[in-house]
Amino acid sequence: MIFFKKVTDLQTYLGKKREAGKKIGFAPTMGALHQGHLSLIESSRENNSITVCSIFVNPTQFNDPADFEKYPITIEKDIAMLEAAGTTILFLPPVSEIYPSGVSGSQQYGLGYLETILEGKYRPGHFQGVCKVMDRLLSIVKPDNLYLGQKDYQQCMVITKLVELMGQKDTIRVNICPTLREDDGLAMSSRNMRLNKEDRAKAPAIYGALNHIKKNLKPGNLQALKTAALAKLTTEGFKPDYIEIADADTLQIASEWDGKQKLVALAAAFLNEVRLIDNMVI
Ligand code: PAJ
Repeated sequence: MIFFKKVTDLQTYLGKKREAGKKIGFAPTMGALHQGHLSLIESSRENNSITVCSIFVNPTQFNDPADFEKYPITIEKDIAMLEAAGTTILFLPPVSEIYPSGVSGSQQYGLGYLETILEGKYRPGHFQGVCKVMDRLLSIVKPDNLYLGQKDYQQCMVITKLVELMGQKDTIRVNICPTLREDDGLAMSSRNMRLNKEDRAKAPAIYGALNHIKKNLKPGNLQALKTAALAKLTTEGFKPDYIEIADADTLQIASEWDGKQKLVALAAAFLNEVRLIDNMVI
């Protein structure tokens, strides 16, 4: 595995590979890696001769400064995991390489409706920060294939939209990989390591609530089902931001189901100060 910290060095290296006709796969991360991240690397390796992973804890996407400060950093372990997974390149830039003119740029991305609901509503500015860093990373790496996790369902839609806004729809293919879970159903997440023992035991209830929706979905009004799922989370000690059912392709919130529409259930909830998100296509 080759390490790069400087944008220009990485660009020179990748430019030569691109000229030689090599396909480039890219999995962006914020580190504190787990098997979910490694599954993106594995998917990339199947279809590209070069797999780039970036680790960059992006300051512009944290609407809560305390969350940024407490974001876990396990770089030694991450490097060992990426090496073992057969990653070709690790891009580990400092903030000054990603944001040479500072973090407070004024560019706004036209995300429209996508930014007004669910994560967009509860984490103001978050998706603008995600677009800021992804715009920069994609312009540097210029991948043929981008690998994202379904775990962050709305983020996948936002980044797909960004790729369109960048005019790269025909050059960058967005590949969405399934959510990897622990044996008890909890979606793998870097934030899980911040859960205390008691909360770790409660955490799979978020998966339980989504499963409850999936199992009990019937055509007609969906409000009672949403309320029951929310009550399940609250009883388990979560402080939910939301648990919603939406159209799987547009994320329009669904209040009725016709028995045919493809839906997705999405949840975000706190256990003490740790915010967990999960989703399930139903
Ligand atoms: P991070 O949370 O580190 O996630 C990096 C990638 O791993 C994302 O595409 C995410 O959806 C995927 N991922 C996380 N948990 C997963 C799981 N259990 N199974 C499968 N994939 C999983 O998401 C970010 O970083 C950042 O917002 C980023 C896109 C890097 C921009 O800063």
